[in-house]
Amino acid sequence: MKVLLVGSGARENAISDALIAGQADVFAFMSNRNPGICRYCRKFEIGDVKDVLSICKFALASKPDLAVIGPEAPLAAGVVDELHKIGVSCFGPTRELAQLESSKSFTRCLLEKYNINASPEFRIFTRKSPEAEIRSFLRDLGEYVIKPDGLTGGKGVKVFGEHIDNDDDAVDYCNEIFGNNSSVVIEEKLDGEEFSLQSITDGKTVIDCPPVQDHKRAFDNDIGANTGGMGSYGCEDHLLPFLKREHIDHAHNITVQVASALKKEIGPYKGVMYGGFILTKKGVRLIEYNARFGDPEAMNVIPLMKTNFVDVCNAVINSELHKIEFRKLASVCKYVVPEGYPENPRPGRIEVPASAPALTFYAAVDEKADGIYATKSRAVGFVGMAPGIEEAERIAEQAASRVKGFVFHRKDIGTRALLQKRIAHMKGIMEGK
Ligand code: AMP
Ligand code: GLY
Repeated sequence: MKVLLVGSGARENAISDALIAGQADVFAFMSNRNPGICRYCRKFEIGDVKDVLSICKFALASKPDLAVIGPEAPLAAGVVDELHKIGVSCFGPTRELAQLESSKSFTRCLLEKYNINASPEFRIFTRKSPEAEIRSFLRDLGEYVIKPDGLTGGKGVKVFGEHIDNDDDAVDYCNEIFGNNSSVVIEEKLDGEEFSLQSITDGKTVIDCPPVQDHKRAFDNDIGANTGGMGSYGCEDHLLPFLKREHIDHAHNITVQVASALKKEIGPYKGVMYGGFILTKKGVRLIEYNARFGDPEAMNVIPLMKTNFVDVCNAVINSELHKIEFRKLASVCKYVVPEGYPENPRPGRIEVPASAPALTFYAAVDEKADGIYATKSRAVGFVGMAPGIEEAERIAEQAASRVKGFVFHRKDIGTRALLQKRIAHMKGIMEGK
């Protein structure tokens, strides 16, 4: 099998490893020279992953049997639609279906239309909406979240009490978004513990990967700016310490209903429906969907797949998905990032010593003649896998702390102390504290 892979983060490094383990020849279209992908792929090209025409040109030259699209930006740019036109089947949704991630209002309205009860209270406002109406809705909600209705690289959402302190600031932020020609979704602020459920679907059958919890804040103890995700963990029982089986089943049912709604509205969705869910006092609610694997969450689940990933991709494309098996191991992923990330990252050369038994996945780095250079985003992800989370954490921590250069990582991800904090937080919410 020849597989075209689009993207060059650590998520795509994990996808590339799985494709190669599944006996595929990988042809990679990447925005930077990722050493983890370059080392084993058959051929690669560097370019803008939103440049759909260049991706198609690369595909015409390499003649892949199928394509796997890693990030959201090329999906939203319609790369799947264009690849279909030149006869390349894709693991990843078309532009219209990718609105599941690229338009928050699309998804909220879809759930409303099909009576899928998983959204917080919400309303959509445009530049034509009277300010009095916006203020009245803000007052009704009391605590709220403001979201631009488009892709913002995880940086556009503002939460009351964290990024916004009063209604005046909220209205100012709405006006700023309207100025960028976008509408705004304002929704009730939910309180609880978040989890990522990445489900693989061929449009009919929905199969969950084990749930994972990501850590958005830059520093230990969940302080500092929001990032793309500093690391993540999953447990050997395929639950999380604050989640019961019934909560996963609930989240799964939401995704099954949404997949069916998408099929009726547009057509079969093929790829990953990654639900960002939150367990609240009132049960499981949907924060958002992403139309691709999570980064870092892909690194927790893809290496656990017992089923050949190339077979999974083919089954999705041919609407024959029926089973994916995952090993029962705990996983901890820790990202090493440049000093100053995310606001003021300091690029520079890093040294990455051999990290076994941790798995190494390169992200925003460039391989040059004299070594590996961190650019301006997350640099390298390390994953520990073990029968228990303590050992998985130790393996990931040891590898992350060996990287040399102007970098840092979170030492607390996957530790007993942090897991206990999550359990206590959830218990407090359930008991109404
Ligand atoms: P997004 O960019 O949509 O991934 O949202 C970023 C983060 O904003 C989420 O991971 C949540 O932590 C937070 N968030 C989004 N919507 C809500 C909500 N309705 N209630 C509480 N937090 C939210
Ligand atoms: N882990 C967050 C994301 O992939 O969007």
